[in-house]
Amino acid sequence: MIRDDALALDAADPLGPLRDQFELPPGVLYLDGNSLGVLPKTTAARVQQVVTQEWGTDLIRSWNSAGWMDLPKRVGDKIAHLVGAGPGELVVADSTSVNLFKVLSAALTAVARDAPQRRVILSERSNFPTDLYIAESLAHQHGCELLLAEADELPDLLNAHTAVLMLTHVNYRTGRMHDMAALTAAAHAAGALALWDLAHSAGAVPVDLKGANADYAVGCGYKYLNGGPGAPAFVWVHPRHVERFWQPLAGWIGHAAPFEFTPGYRPAAGIARYLCGTPAVLSLAALECGVDTVLAAEPLSGGRSAMAALRDKSLALTHLFAARVQATCPQLTLVSPVDDAQRGSQVCFAHPEIGYPVVQALIARGVIGDFRAPDILRFGFTPLYLRYVDAWDAAESLRDVLASGEWQRPEFKRRLAVT
Ligand SMILES: Cc1ncc(COP(=O)(O)O)c(C=O)c1O
Repeated sequence: MIRDDALALDAADPLGPLRDQFELPPGVLYLDGNSLGVLPKTTAARVQQVVTQEWGTDLIRSWNSAGWMDLPKRVGDKIAHLVGAGPGELVVADSTSVNLFKVLSAALTAVARDAPQRRVILSERSNFPTDLYIAESLAHQHGCELLLAEADELPDLLNAHTAVLMLTHVNYRTGRMHDMAALTAAAHAAGALALWDLAHSAGAVPVDLKGANADYAVGCGYKYLNGGPGAPAFVWVHPRHVERFWQPLAGWIGHAAPFEFTPGYRPAAGIARYLCGTPAVLSLAALECGVDTVLAAEPLSGGRSAMAALRDKSLALTHLFAARVQATCPQLTLVSPVDDAQRGSQVCFAHPEIGYPVVQALIARGVIGDFRAPDILRFGFTPLYLRYVDAWDAAESLRDVLASGEWQRPEFKRRLAVT
């Protein structure tokens, strides 16, 4: 393949026009949409409208007249469409960490009632730290054990003691994607519940929560959903569980009738009980713009779902980049799966020593990826706004940075707070 082939792929790409939805700074190749998605063009005007009109002019009336109260459900329904959940089953609220606390706590409460001998939360050793910290904290509170294992060991560790299998669908360090349906079925066969973190999946890969028969899910708004820094997260509970228990953060917005102001808690019907406090209206408005950029793929997807079409392009981009880097940068070890079925929408390489300065040198060239300690160079591919030629050029820059020794400049070795 040569660069012209990448250009030809872009010229023939039916999803190519989606890039125009974004404010992409000139000279930047953005391979970090798995950390913070790019700003959609509609967001600034929409947030300004909410600020000046809905807040500035209509003031408190906007909770009713502008539908502020419905935003968690309205945006939730749009995300539900992308992750295989039904309408009215998913809400947007709080952060992924907080939502994970709610669902894991609810799951442990359910198990304590139904099968008290099940005291183990099973997860992956390389799961994202916040997931492990929340699980560790809840394990203490519920008198459970948190058992960590390598991905391949998980099925054999599911047994009569397992309460919950808690996994992140696409691993943040390697991009390895679990088979959600198979692991959920294995968890159920062992009598356990399955809880999925979709932080690196929602808007990145097709997800079918109902089809996989999952029990609980949470996910992130600021990565592939392009909701902006600190965008609220989402939470989904299978309808068979949702009304069986309270979630632990029983706040007034999750009450059946918040404006009756009664002293006793009565949970709202359905997933609304997983809301807690007042919705973050400005952030929800921004997130809706981001989610709409993903849904905009649907009409360009040739009769398929938006995620199916985006997945094909994502796989082609990650394949192109991984193959080029492997061919030209023998110093780096590919740690993402080569098998398409197991690869999310990112490509990661390991180097025992120079990962951090290499990423910094790339960023200085406008090729933005990130570094995950201790040794991972991570590159996220968002097919909504990345072109094939971007994957090609990014690989060339990485080769240049390594071949020229540019990464050795002292400024690239200085550790920043966010890597
Ligand atoms: C798998 C996973 N879960 C959760 C989070 C973040 O959670 P929060 O939005 O609560 O900071 C991340 C952030 O990168 C993540 O990768």
